[in-house]
Amino acid sequence: MLRVVVLVSGGGTNLQAVIDKIEAGEIRDAKIVGVISNNAGAYALTRAKDHGIPGECVSPKSFADRAAFNESFLAKVEELEPDLIVLAGFLVVIPPEMIRRYRNRIINIHPSLIPSFCGTGYYGLKVHEAALARGVKVTGATVHFVDEGTDTGPIILQKAVEVRQGDTPEVLQRRVMEEAEWQILPQAIGLIAQGRVTVEDGQVKIRTV
Ligand code: GRF
Repeated sequence: MLRVVVLVSGGGTNLQAVIDKIEAGEIRDAKIVGVISNNAGAYALTRAKDHGIPGECVSPKSFADRAAFNESFLAKVEELEPDLIVLAGFLVVIPPEMIRRYRNRIINIHPSLIPSFCGTGYYGLKVHEAALARGVKVTGATVHFVDEGTDTGPIILQKAVEVRQGDTPEVLQRRVMEEAEWQILPQAIGLIAQGRVTVEDGQVKIRTV
């Protein structure tokens, strides 16, 4: 059984998509053993509680400096003994020590087709504002492994979504979530749980069954 820890900051719709697929039996061999938020008010924590998943807040604001937060945050994650760490809208920089310790075992969902509209400063609605400003006709979402860079790790899955005339950033964000994020994030976790995902020379290979 793949032990999954989900890190969140906000609404937790991606977390919900994963919970739903596990409960429906569409993801087998995976269990969410804990949800950690940097924000005590995150609705994602309520979603976890409603489904009997232990949830906790660890906020950088409660620590004297970033090093103290990083140490405590890493300790909290380690207590849960994760096989996979899922960043589902997590807005805090992952401690470098955690990246080293969990190499190719941390995944992130990003709401664009990487390498477009990604990197420092591209988060939340800003991603969709930039896509609309550039006038792209197709955008989408990407699930990737997390490395030391911002949105630079090996790509696991991507899904394209049409941009429609008259889209606002909010409308586009919602379509990207519904049509891409909520599908490929659970899908990636399912593939990893089945042991079908490997990284070779910085590239993801997915074994077909
Ligand atoms: C999603 O758009 C995700 O791609 C981004 O942050 C948002 C999180 O939404 N990284 P939610 O908390 O899962 O509802």
